[in-house]
Amino acid sequence: EDEKSELEARIKSALQDQDAVLVAHYYTDPDIQRLAEETGGCVADSLEMARFGNQHPASTVVVAGVRFMGETAKILNPEKRVLMPTLEATCSLDVGCPADEFAEFCDQHPDRTVVVYANTSAAVKARADWVVTSSCAQAIVEDLDARGEKILWAPDKHLGHYVQKTTGADMLLWDGSCIVHEEFKYRGLEDLKALYPDAAVLVHPESPDAVVEMADVVGSTSQLIHAVQTLPNEKFIVATDNGIFYKMQQLAPNKTLIEAPTAGNGATCRSCAHCPWMAMNGLQNLLQVLEQGDQEVLVDPELREKALQPLQRMLDFTA
Ligand code: 13P
Ligand code: SF4
Repeated sequence: EDEKSELEARIKSALQDQDAVLVAHYYTDPDIQRLAEETGGCVADSLEMARFGNQHPASTVVVAGVRFMGETAKILNPEKRVLMPTLEATCSLDVGCPADEFAEFCDQHPDRTVVVYANTSAAVKARADWVVTSSCAQAIVEDLDARGEKILWAPDKHLGHYVQKTTGADMLLWDGSCIVHEEFKYRGLEDLKALYPDAAVLVHPESPDAVVEMADVVGSTSQLIHAVQTLPNEKFIVATDNGIFYKMQQLAPNKTLIEAPTAGNGATCRSCAHCPWMAMNGLQNLLQVLEQGDQEVLVDPELREKALQPLQRMLDFTA
């Protein structure tokens, strides 16, 4: 404990010395989320993280999350220094959508408007017309569909399928998925729901279609947190990364939160529903990057310029 408070104190003073602000995702370790809150930074979903880093005056932004979140911060703020506790923190959606293969896919369908999820590399974003996150995907696709546009969607097939179903848009889907949300099981969820019939089921749309269909609320991390605060239910079954429980419990201390099952028999497994890349962010490497300035996110200037346009469109659309 003593060691932890010393680390935290050093991180706080390093943030000040470096004119740095800490921006953390809801899936990161509670210690990191708490530090971000205590130091005037923010804890947020991927859309709000992008917006916050963009508006904050600090000259250094430290992004605790995964690589695409750091890249997004850099694309939006080329004049700022963007650091991450580790540049190794990637995302299975990003890995599963290599830029060269994606460019070929786009070349084969030149008549389609290219919409990519934020969970992609700068190079993939550079090829897109629009970037979306799970908070705004539906609204943006709905708008494109109303204008008669046909869509090429990448990389998450489950989110793509969900958006296609709710908007009725013509969407061609890339075959990618999130290794964390892919693990949620419909059968186990059915059993759990039978045990807690009054619980509301909250599901992140990166989950398999059958799980999404059982949801009372489907939404981004911030939308699921909002649901816990506002729905009258006392119990919630939550199908997303369990890092989110810290913020949910903080904002709704009287509610009971139950992890959705990641195995067919209904058993839950704490380590399953936790992103291994989000888990790479710790107090040790956070302090190290602040003191040493390594692990700086850099984006090729030409790519940056191209990737900025679809990102800026998303920010303007959701402003
Ligand atoms: P949110 O945009 O909902 O925060 O999701 C990001 C993510 O990586 C989910 O796995
Ligand atoms: Fe990517 Fe899934 Fe991890 Fe989110 S939880 S960062 S989508 S691997």
